Amino acid sequence: MKTNEIRNKFLKFFERKSHVIWPSDSLVPQNDPTLLFTGAGMNQFKDMFLGKGNLEFKKATTCQKCLRTGDIDNVGRTASHHTFFEMLGNFSFGDYFKKETIEWAWEFLVQELKIPEDRLSVSVYNDDQESYEIWEKYVGVPKAKIYRYGEKDNFWPANAPLLGPNGPCGPCSEIFFDQGERIGCGRKECEPACDCDRFVEIWNLVFTQYDRTEGGKLTPLPHKNVDTGMGLERMARVIQGVQTNFDIDIFSPIIKSLEEITQVKYNGQIEHAILMRRIADHVKACVFCISDGVLPGNEGRGYVERRLLRRAIRDGTQLGIKECFFIQIGADCKQCNAGILSRYQAASGKHCTDCEE
Ligand code: ALA
Repeated sequence: MKTNEIRNKFLKFFERKSHVIWPSDSLVPQNDPTLLFTGAGMNQFKDMFLGKGNLEFKKATTCQKCLRTGDIDNVGRTASHHTFFEMLGNFSFGDYFKKETIEWAWEFLVQELKIPEDRLSVSVYNDDQESYEIWEKYVGVPKAKIYRYGEKDNFWPANAPLLGPNGPCGPCSEIFFDQGERIGCGRKECEPACDCDRFVEIWNLVFTQYDRTEGGKLTPLPHKNVDTGMGLERMARVIQGVQTNFDIDIFSPIIKSLEEITQVKYNGQIEHAILMRRIADHVKACVFCISDGVLPGNEGRGYVERRLLRRAIRDGTQLGIKECFFIQIGADCKQCNAGILSRYQAASGKHCTDCEE
């Protein structure tokens, strides 16, 4: 199944559950001066969670462009990390809560995406007995596959009660895909919280019911909310059965193009693959930043982008490229030599936009 199809299936599924399909916000948050970049689907709905938003619906679904640089050093080295990625989500602003969220998530994974149930495990927040029982009694997940973890793993934002940030937060329940004993640490007792790659976290269901204020005080919000996040590239990797996010259909044209430019094989040395993945990630991040109005600069957002550009260019140098190469990445549209953004759209099922014009 192509990444584009997964994205569409998700949005349509929640539309059938009477959610409004709402556009992605810009990478530059329109409604939250505390954030440098949009890093989660819920960012644009913060006021709705706080009970002061003015959208006329109580249920929404989005595919949000996200940029996170916290794990930048892992990008390319692990199967999952990105700076730029797309996050699918469904949201309730005082409408449904835990039961529907959990049941719909399972229905989507098992019935729409056809993931075998026995490959899935879940986790709940330590004392969230309600979610535990929904997983066990209503969905039928065996006790041995329901894990209880603390604030680091099962609160969102992670560790929010102790460390912040202030704002809407709550306990969460996560769903994991088990890649099997052969992947990762190989320990019999390996479980989702293990740092190895065996269990892939595919969906985070957040029950946003508190407003954290200074000093770590958790005040109940005016109503209970839901905020879920599924990393699209990660989901595609699971469904397409490939090794890393960079091997999915929307990344392979970029990697292929890098192979052509550098004359280096992606599947040769692992160090080369890491550099290529990092360039692919960073160039995409830069393209989406630029398309949202952020230009490379000396401070703030522009500086983040400049760092991304520099890192990717440095990686290119290490692959032996001497000239400017960014412009050539993905520039293999037969008709018009279109660049990466058009190519990205082509990979997502559309025609090269430059040619169409
Ligand atoms: N906001 C939650 C996350 O980013 C869903 O994981």
